[in-house]
Amino acid sequence: MNIHKKTRIAVIGGDGTGPEVAQEGLKVLTAVSELEKFDFELKHFDWGGERYLKTGEVLPPGAADELRKFDAIYLGAVGHPDVKPGVLEKGLLLELRFQLDQYINLRPVKLFPGVETPLKDKGPDDIDFIVVRENTEDMYAGVGGFLKKNTPDEVAEQTAIYTRKGCERCIRWAFELTRKRNNPKGRMLTLVAKTNVLTYGHDLWWRTFQDVAREYSDVKADYNHVDACCMWMVKQPEYYDVIVTTNMFGDIITDLAAIIQGGLGVAAGGNLNPDPGGTSMFEPMGGSAPKYTGLNVINPIAAINAMSMLLEHTGHEEAAARIMAAIQKVTGTKMKSQAAGKMGYGTKEVGDLVCQLL
Ligand code: IPM
Ligand code: MN
Repeated sequence: MNIHKKTRIAVIGGDGTGPEVAQEGLKVLTAVSELEKFDFELKHFDWGGERYLKTGEVLPPGAADELRKFDAIYLGAVGHPDVKPGVLEKGLLLELRFQLDQYINLRPVKLFPGVETPLKDKGPDDIDFIVVRENTEDMYAGVGGFLKKNTPDEVAEQTAIYTRKGCERCIRWAFELTRKRNNPKGRMLTLVAKTNVLTYGHDLWWRTFQDVAREYSDVKADYNHVDACCMWMVKQPEYYDVIVTTNMFGDIITDLAAIIQGGLGVAAGGNLNPDPGGTSMFEPMGGSAPKYTGLNVINPIAAINAMSMLLEHTGHEEAAARIMAAIQKVTGTKMKSQAAGKMGYGTKEVGDLVCQLL
């Protein structure tokens, strides 16, 4: 990507504490852009629960086309207590993932220094892997229906869709990432699926994985059933380097992964369209946490982490690395806890500390 031009970022602060944590990420962006000498431009969008309650519309017509013009999207959080579950998730988050063809959901899982993990005797050296989740297919495709709805004979069907193109582009991207990451402990990509039961859909994944693996003889191609993966992730997280998995399983195992890396206050993710000209979206995993809104108690580390990911993917690798190093100094030497209200600092103060340590 051309780093000499202005980086254009669409900001969707969203609901609850989303705008507050996004604000800290943007503060860090301003500070790092001065140090690394690059220009950026922001445009804020008021999309989310509040707007939906006022207008009855989650996204205005042409929203995805508008976002396509940006180099990246920075999302705070969506989710509003007065909006029925699913409306904003499907209408905003999933809609944008699909419309912008963000076919990779990238979740780095790294335990930062000073951050508490529920895993006994595990530290930052043990918990450091990446999950690559397919992000456009599977049961998320929205294929299904009802028959005889609301009768005793009702039938509901929810279909998992897998395409050769969909799994191949995700698997290939994951192999490339594993090669680039070049883990000193050895490069290994683990496919996580359920080939012993899902003998059609995950057979396609398995065969595609074997085919693509032939092009990457420098990467060990490994396989875990998803249930076993959940056990290993708790018992021996140091086993993993990079995991590639389907959309639904990826959703579940990345929440498990988030909790072992210290929880939703620190975990961040990217929804990537890695194709030329594709627009990717970066977000903290925390959700809108409405009860903490406006109290200056929510943890902004995840949002700042998401900003680091955004910069890495828009060609500002040095800026991204600077933020990552500053975050680790703040968690390692300043913060008392990663839990809202227990950090020893307010939301804004944590943002200030990261800026100072850049
Ligand atoms: C995630 C979230 C979403 C998902 C929800 C909010 C639709 O849980 O990004 O993991 O299921 O993908
Ligand atoms: Mn999830």
